[in-house]
Amino acid sequence: MNHSFLILGANGQLGKQFYKDLTRRATTVIAPDEKDCDITSANVLSRYIDSVKPTVVINCAAYNAVDLAEQQPETAYRINTSSAGMIAALCAERKISFVHYSSDYVFDGAKGDRYSEQDVPNPLNVYGKSKHDGETAVLAAGGTSLVLRTSWVFGNGTQNFIYKMKQWSQMNPVLKLTADEVSVPTSTIDLVDITLRALNKGLSGLFHLTNSDYASRYEWGRYVAKQLSLSATIIPVPMSMFPSPAQRPLFSAMSNQRLQDDLGIVIPDWRDAVDRFIKEYPMR
Ligand SMILES: NC(=O)c1ccc[n+]([C@@H]2O[C@H](COP(=O)([O-])OP(=O)(O)OC[C@H]3O[C@@H](n4cnc5c(N)ncnc54)[C@H](OP(=O)(O)O)[C@@H]3O)[C@@H](O)[C@H]2O)c1
Repeated sequence: MNHSFLILGANGQLGKQFYKDLTRRATTVIAPDEKDCDITSANVLSRYIDSVKPTVVINCAAYNAVDLAEQQPETAYRINTSSAGMIAALCAERKISFVHYSSDYVFDGAKGDRYSEQDVPNPLNVYGKSKHDGETAVLAAGGTSLVLRTSWVFGNGTQNFIYKMKQWSQMNPVLKLTADEVSVPTSTIDLVDITLRALNKGLSGLFHLTNSDYASRYEWGRYVAKQLSLSATIIPVPMSMFPSPAQRPLFSAMSNQRLQDDLGIVIPDWRDAVDRFIKEYPMR
């Protein structure tokens, strides 16, 4: 692959994985953090892009604080919507490929089955609306853009659910996890690998990119506890037990079939992804 990559939001879970995997492949990769390249500033960004001249820009930056977004809608929209559209436009003007990530929270969960790319979004909260408007802005910019909706992302760091399970189980003998909140745990390792395959194949447009199968938060937690031999007892509870400022969809699992078909690959099951993640990033 003869691309040079600019990774925006390089300090986040996904950004870090891109940096790790692309440098391993000896590809040119520039990965500024927020203080060197704030994606909300068109001036900063256009100067940055013109100085490093990437052939691909990957936007891993996002405002992901789902509950806080209810109180800070302007910030959520500035980062997830306006900036996403602005980067897409800058890339379109310069004929640079652009990759952007969206979320399963664009859906309301009422379907009760896996969502396909044809299903109509209906976000329930500010975060989901800002991500949906971001997708629309990116696709309207007219360049070569790949918009990948994903869910329940786990990557290196202390923010991921697997690490949190370990922490929680050291502090509590009993953990309550929601059994009616369902989506697809998705590893940054597979997100990076499959994004690069999609770029190589020249795909553009909107796709769902998650690991395969789906799980409730309870099932995911039980699996993690088993693989890490955690001692806490895990009990299933309804999401209504944890009232939160942002309303969340109950069943927002998405189907990745379109991407599997277009790439001619089988995307690994989330359990397999958890196993490989724990091997690559042992939880000490
Ligand atoms: N995490 C999930 O479960 C999940 C679920 C569905 C979709 N997604 C989407 O997947 C993508 C990757 O998510 P992730 O989990 O890797 O996110 P993450 O770990 O929260 O990383 C986001 C990064 O964006 C950076 N950022 C925020 N505002 C910025 C700005 N103005 N300029 C430059 N950088 C800025 C943050 O920097 P600071 O750390 O300095 O704030 C952070 O490093 C995002 O589009 C996200 O919406 C994630």
